[in-house]
Order: sequence, then structure tokens, then C-alpha cells
Amino acid sequence: MPEAKELTSRKKRVLSGVKPTGKAHLGNYLGAMRNHVEMQDQCESFIFIADLHSLTTVKDSKVLQGLITDLALDYLALGLNPDKTVFFRQSDIHEHTELTWVLNCVTPMSMLELAHAYKDAKAKGEKDINVGIFDYPVLMAVDILIYKPNLVPVGKDQKQHVEIARDIAGKFNRIFGKVFEIPEAYIPEEVAVVTGTDGRKMSKSYGNSIEIFAPEKELKKQVMGIVTDSTPVDQPKDPGKDNVYKLYSYFAAPEEKSALAEKYKAGGYGYGDAKKLLLERILEHFRPFREKRAELMNNLDYVKEVLNKGAEKARRTASATKEEVWDKVGLNI
Ligand code: TRP
Repeated sequence: MPEAKELTSRKKRVLSGVKPTGKAHLGNYLGAMRNHVEMQDQCESFIFIADLHSLTTVKDSKVLQGLITDLALDYLALGLNPDKTVFFRQSDIHEHTELTWVLNCVTPMSMLELAHAYKDAKAKGEKDINVGIFDYPVLMAVDILIYKPNLVPVGKDQKQHVEIARDIAGKFNRIFGKVFEIPEAYIPEEVAVVTGTDGRKMSKSYGNSIEIFAPEKELKKQVMGIVTDSTPVDQPKDPGKDNVYKLYSYFAAPEEKSALAEKYKAGGYGYGDAKKLLLERILEHFRPFREKRAELMNNLDYVKEVLNKGAEKARRTASATKEEVWDKVGLNI
């Protein structure tokens, strides 16, 4: 993280939630997961699996169990250290749902009607919009506010949700007296968009992912499937316009990048060669993580234990905030 200086000046509390959505891809890794892991050396770090949020869309118990386990394995394999990061599942901390009710009661419906996810679903004419989708921002506000973090690292698409959290915190504090800190969204610019194999933003829904923990054969298929233009092998190529080069540049050192750029410009170097180079580079980068993940898969009891211990730590903060809220609103008599 280039902004490391900014974060180390004071040991800030940083919190982020991750909704389990499926196989981790390069976009997830470069855009969020890597930063989430690096944070633990600079900040007081909280990362949780937003499994309750998944319930707005996932309606199959086996699928949800799989998604939760996969995400826990991914983070631990990528180096998240449970002794440094408080790593837990949202659904383990009952205070999240309890406080959601209280904050629901200070949140204007008109504010949630403006939230993107709900607004988009409505604009598309979706018939089946559940209350969970409508209330999603309030649960997320609680996720944040209950731990009183300074910074909330999120993608651009979540900025509005953090703003809603800020508004709700302010409103509660004005009505009942101050409990909540006003959190700040932290949106690292350089990782905003990772290119997918078809040149669009890498996203599960576009089917243009490179999945970092896919079996090697599958990974190879994904890399070899990167869309390139039809410039013949012998012709010079423009690295600035090529997806393989773009993806390679996420992993290569500056001199390696310029070496590849030179080969492109000189001609006689095919996209197939560049793809092989990229595949090698990706495999090399993720090899230790892939090995760790395979090891952890055989040790799911350990993974569960990590999450339970994380929940114990998170609960201390969450229950203290809950007590403050209960005092302020009059639920403690
Ligand atoms: N809504 C976020 C997403 O889809 C996940 C999330 C849930 C979250 N609660 C949060 C992120 C609290 C940051 C803080 O990506």
C-alpha cells in the first residue's frame, strides 16, 4: 500500500467486511484481499466475513456454507494472521443484528430508497426485492459503527454505503447522545479496476476472471483465453492496448515490464508467448498461497477454531458498544 505512511502515523483501527461471493479472482486479490492482509502490519485490523449480507441473495444452505469456508480459507492462505487481525464471521456476533434493529428505528426510509443496490433493482422492475436488500445498508452501518474504526477500506461501489453509515451515526448521536465515531471510507485509487480476460473490469458476473486458487489446468485455460487483437506474430504490438500486458504489469517489476514492452514493439513476439510468461508469473506469485490453501483444506477444524477465537475478540468490542447503545436508548433499566 503506497499510503502506508499515512496509516502508520498513528495506529488506526481499520475494519472491512467481505461478502462471500465465490472463487477469488485477481480483481478481488489486487483490489482488496492483498490490502486487507497488508493492513495487519500497520493498523489495528478487523476483517470479517459478511455472511449475513449473503443471505439477501443466497438461498441454499450448502452453497452458503461453501462460500463462507472458501473465503476463510482464501484469507488465511493469503497470509492473514489471526494473531494480528481480528478475523471473524459477522453472524457469530449477535450484536450486529440486535443493533440493526435499533438503527433501523432512526434511519429514514427515504435514505435507503436512494441506495444504489435497491434503486437499481427497482429501476430494473425486479418484483422480488426482499426487505434484506432494502435494509442492507443499515446492517452494514452497524458492521462498521459497532467497532468504531477510523478507516473503512472499500471499493468505489461501497462508498455510498459508508456515507450512509456516517449519516446514521450522526443521526443517532444527535438524538440519543454520542456513542458512534464517524468513520472514513478509504478507497485506494490504484487498484480501482483490474482488467478481466475480455478487457472489461474483472468480475464474476462477466465470466472474465482469473481465479487465483483454481487448479493449474483451469488457470491456464483462463490465461490462454485472454482476448487479444489479431496483430500477426511478426508485427509490432502496442503494449498499452493489450490485456495480457496489462495483467502482467500487476505482477512484474518495472524493468520486467519494460523488457516485455520492448519485445511487443520489436515484433516477432506473439501474444501466446506473452500469455505463457504471464501464466508463469501468476503461478510463481501464488504458489506459496496455493500450497497453504491446500494444506488448510485438510484442516478445517483449525479454520473453524480461528474464526471462533476471532469472534471472541470481536465480541468484546461489539458488546461494549451495544451496552452503550442500550444505555442511551433506555433498554437498560
Ligand atoms: N457490502 C460490502 C460489499 O459488498 C461488504 C460489507 C459488509 C462491508 N459489511 C461491511 C464492507 C462493512 C465494509 C464494512 O463489498
